Amino acid sequence: MANSKALGTGGRKSDKDLKIRVKTAKGRKVASTKWLERQLNDPYVARARAEGYRSRAAFKIKEMDEKHKFFKKGMRVVDLGAAPGGWSQVAAQAVGSTIANPLVVGIDYLDMDPVPGVILFKKDFTEDDAPQMLIEAMGGHGVDVVMSDMAWPTTGHRPTDHLRIVHLIEIAAEFAIQVLNPGGVFIAKVFQGGTEHELLHMLKRHFKTTIHVKPPSSRKDSAEAYLVAKGFNGGRSAEGE
Ligand SMILES: C[S@@+](CC[C@H](N)C(=O)[O-])C[C@H]1O[C@@H](n2cnc3c(N)ncnc32)[C@H](O)[C@@H]1O
Repeated sequence: MANSKALGTGGRKSDKDLKIRVKTAKGRKVASTKWLERQLNDPYVARARAEGYRSRAAFKIKEMDEKHKFFKKGMRVVDLGAAPGGWSQVAAQAVGSTIANPLVVGIDYLDMDPVPGVILFKKDFTEDDAPQMLIEAMGGHGVDVVMSDMAWPTTGHRPTDHLRIVHLIEIAAEFAIQVLNPGGVFIAKVFQGGTEHELLHMLKRHFKTTIHVKPPSSRKDSAEAYLVAKGFNGGRSAEGE
């Protein structure tokens, strides 16, 4: 082993030495430098690049699906907050969505490069006509998985940020209940380890199981987690509403 010989036992580099360090350049804020350093040293970022995914986020939905098995061939999927497209790529592969027969529809207010087999809308999902656009794009078919990775940029004011994310989850959940086929799945990004009590209660009435999960690729230092609700009861409330 030429390398280990050349380094010698005393010269072996530790993981710490191998870490790429980024110097704060003129005009670059410390936070941006830290972000850049984290990206350069993140194994999921390297894997995403190597495996052709648009984002490291792709691994979050991949890991959740590996564990909770919600995608099957031929299923229809809606991706809320889709940019830059990692979740859409994973879903399209998993359900076998093609340009000729697209089974995945995504929405984001940001620009996105096309994802083969995915119908994409550039629009804010909170706009009144957004849900109907997605329903029409599905050609009137029911949906099997509604997944939302949406999050607003944070304001730094915690109560405001909390209310904004809760609102996003609520409208995503209302949409899911409107479009899901019986047995369908709803996945949504949540924060601070929890979903509002009322919302969770409502979801529990409509889904067989609701759990919070933190996939391994979700950064440990982030308050992000995901709610996975499985087994949609077709709109019948368990309490008979
Ligand atoms: C974490 S990123 C999603 C990453 C994506 N799952 C992937 O794998 O590439 C969150 C996205 O949600 C989008 N978003 C947040 N609020 C939204 C809204 N109201 N309507 C549409 N998109 C929204 C943001 O623009 C952002 O692109």
